[in-house]
Order: sequence, then structure tokens, then C-alpha cells
Amino acid sequence: MTPRSGSLLTPVLSDNWDAHRAWTLQSYEDQGGYRALRTSLGMSQDDVIAVVKDSGLRGRGGAGFPTGMKWGFIPLGDGKPHYLVVNADESEPGTCKDIPLMMASPHTLIEGVIISSYAIRANVAFIYVRGEVLHVVRRLQRAVQEAYLAGHLGSDIHGSGYDLDVIVHAGAGAYICGEETALLDSLEGRRGQPRLRPPFPAVAGLYALPTVINNVESIASVPFVIDGGAQWFASMGTEKSKGMTLYSLSGHVQSPGQYEAPLGVTLRELLDVGGGIRDGHELKFWTPGGSSTPILTAEHLDVPLDYEAVGAAGSMLGTKALQVFDETTSVVRAVLRWTEFYKHESCGKCTPCREGTWWLVQTLQRIEAGQGREGDIELLLDQCDNILGRAFCALGDGATSPITSAIQYFRDEFEAGMHTPAWELFPYQASTVFTASTVSGAPA
Ligand SMILES: Cc1cc2nc3c(=O)[nH]c(=O)nc-3n(C[C@H](O)[C@H](O)[C@H](O)COP(=O)(O)O)c2cc1C
Ligand code: SF4
Repeated sequence: MTPRSGSLLTPVLSDNWDAHRAWTLQSYEDQGGYRALRTSLGMSQDDVIAVVKDSGLRGRGGAGFPTGMKWGFIPLGDGKPHYLVVNADESEPGTCKDIPLMMASPHTLIEGVIISSYAIRANVAFIYVRGEVLHVVRRLQRAVQEAYLAGHLGSDIHGSGYDLDVIVHAGAGAYICGEETALLDSLEGRRGQPRLRPPFPAVAGLYALPTVINNVESIASVPFVIDGGAQWFASMGTEKSKGMTLYSLSGHVQSPGQYEAPLGVTLRELLDVGGGIRDGHELKFWTPGGSSTPILTAEHLDVPLDYEAVGAAGSMLGTKALQVFDETTSVVRAVLRWTEFYKHESCGKCTPCREGTWWLVQTLQRIEAGQGREGDIELLLDQCDNILGRAFCALGDGATSPITSAIQYFRDEFEAGMHTPAWELFPYQASTVFTASTVSGAPA
């Protein structure tokens, strides 16, 4: 668990991913797995919460809310059942860290689930996995079965008197089901739509009972926090953004993949490790945390990738999904594709998002086709203004981020959309990362 000297990378969560059959209980235990569980069961529940608080661990699902503080909101001694729900719905375009983590080492998550459930006094935990990733569902189910057989789950875990059941639930196939309250509705068997808050899930969550909802990476980090200690974890990262994390590098880069490094590393440093932008090309724009975070450009290569610095640069760290685009990419086309996603995934509960994302797509389609009308850029900004801060949940706000930031940095490309199609200015064949045979070509 010590950062490798001379390297920027600090493999902790990903350290065992290349071990032989890393997903099996045997392999995980050979690497020291389930040691932190035994340590935790020897501690009081409040002490476990205190260590997580002191470590400075912040939620890795996007918003960066302090994990220990969230656990502290669960009412103590209320005599009611409590629940832990792991958000494994990972569906944001570009976000691709939780699925590899669960595939490579499901027991890291399960160990984290047991320790976290123990801390918040939950006897039932759910892992809500994106339903389309059936291979991950199966891998988790098998790992849960192994954990029961080994006595890590079930009644009186390792003679501690603590009982826990874990249920792996395949999600309903909608991006909105990753929004924590929509997830709860979906888990309860209803259509996934966000709930009005308050009450917050810590008070009235699943089945109206106190519930903690955390991202996969947040929960998977817990065994390492316990094993290494709060101080060790806090020794990595920056002043307010502690620890190591998974950065997902994708797009026009030589070696896309998961790069685990301390919070505060820069994209320039990660690109150096990842072989840089593909040969003969240069960086044009990138997302720091998935498609709902405002895009950044080459001038932001040295921004520390932590919550504070990325915020100060006008974006959000989000899920640390670094989607990298080179100069062959039409920013209008990229933004339209993301907007089509948000329109499709809008749950329809509130008017600004349901109607607004539809109108955004209409306007962007004209611009992509070179048939933009005078005033369309102002129209787009006005449409965004009518969604941002007026939608019921963060999906609506997120849908506007790529558009307003793209106009801020690449207004000339939107202006070109008044007369020239994007596919003439930026032919598909130049930006695709696949072979020519898989490219369908530009629209007729
Ligand atoms: C539309 C939408 C989709 C989301 N999808 C996910 C997701 O797939 N996984 C996730 O952990 N958080 C997702 N979130 C954030 C969750 O609502 C919540 O903040 C997170 O699960 C909290 O966990 P954390 O504190 O460990 O980060 C999404 C939020 C929104 C608005
Ligand atoms: S913002 Fe969109 S996804 Fe969120 S509640 Fe409104 S319609 Fe549904």
C-alpha cells in the first residue's frame, strides 16, 4: 500500500488487478484481503466512523461529499433497521471505473460493504449494479456466495455477533437510476425518478428507513483506510482532497485505461504516463469528470485534478472520467451526442429538463448540419439558462454543462454551423479511433 517510489501512480485499489484470478476469494485473501474486516470487527462502530472521517475520504460518485460525515447523519439508537446501498449504476458517458473495479476485484467492494454496514449499524446491504453489465452482476453474485461460505457474511460474522446479508440487485437500465433517490425508488420496485428532499436518505431512505448511499469506489476504499490508517490515507492527495483515486483516461490517447494516482495529479502528468495524445495529434478539449462536467482545454493541462482546483478552473472533478479529444474532433458533434444522451435519459418528471433537452437537441442538430439560424447560439444559451438551476435534479444541470462550456471556448465552431456542416469541417474518419471498416461514414 506504499506509493511506488519514482512513480506518479499509487496503485492501492488496483494493486491486485493483475494477480492470478484476482476476482476469487483465494487470490484476494492471498493479497491480504479481509484483514481490514477482522480489524474493524474488533473496533467499536463509532471508531470505524471516526477513522473514515479522519482520513478525509470524500465520495467518489461525483459530488465529493465527505463519506464519514455522511455516515454520521444516520440516527443512532433509533431501534430501526438501517441500510447500506452501494451505487454501482455507472452510466455517465466516459465514466468507467466502477465496472473494471468490480470485475477485477469484487471482494474489495464486498469487504468495504461489510465494514461500512457494520459502522452504520446496517444488517442488510444492497449493491445496485447497472443491469446491462450482466458479467459484473454474475461476478458479484459469485463473490458474495464465496464470502458467505467463508463466514465473512451471514450470521455472527467471525464470532463478532454482527449479522449482515448482501443482496446484488440488477438495475433498471436507465441513467437516472444512478441518482441516489431515483435509485431507491427503483430498488423498491417503482419507476426510477428522483425524490424530493428533505427528507434525506439518512433519515428516510430505502423503505423510508435510514440509509447510506455510497459509490462503489468510495466503499471499496474503506478497507484500505482501515488497514493503512487515516494518516496514511490523508498523506496522499491535497489539503482538502485526500487519498488516491481512479482516473479513467479515454479517447484520443495512446494508452487508455485506469490510472490510480493521488488526488491533485494533473492531466499533463497522467498523459505522460499514458503515452500522450495519439501520434501526430494535439489535445483540443477534455472532460475532467464525465460528460456532465464543463469541458476544459489545453490551457488547463496543469490544473491539479482535485475538487477545489478543478472547481476554480470552472469545471468539476466529477467521476474523474478524463475523456480526451484531439483537434480532429468537432466540438459541436461531441456536444450534440452528449445532449442526445441526456434527452433520451431525462426521466420526464420536470418540465425544464424534459422539454429543454428536446429543444437543445433540435438547435444543436441544425448547427451540426450547417443549417444554424442567426441567433441560434443565443437561443442555445437561453435554453440552457432555462434548465440550469430550474430542473428537479442534477441531470438537467449536467446536460447544460458541455454546451455552455463549449460555446465559451469554441464559439467559432458554432458560428461555422450557420453555413458549413460539422462533418465537412471535421470528417468522421479523421477522429474515429476505430478501423475504417467499422465506420459508417457521414450522414448523406
Ligand atoms: C443523473 C445522475 C446519475 C448518477 N449516477 C451515479 C452513478 O452511476 N454512480 C454513483 O455512484 N453516483 C451517481 N450519481 C451521484 C449519486 O446521486 C450520489 O451522489 C452518489 O452515489 C453518492 O455516493 P458518494 O458519496 O460515495 O459519491 C448520479 C447523480 C445523478 C444526478
Ligand atoms: S432534471 Fe431531468 S432527470 Fe431530473 S427529475 Fe427533472 S426530468 Fe427527471
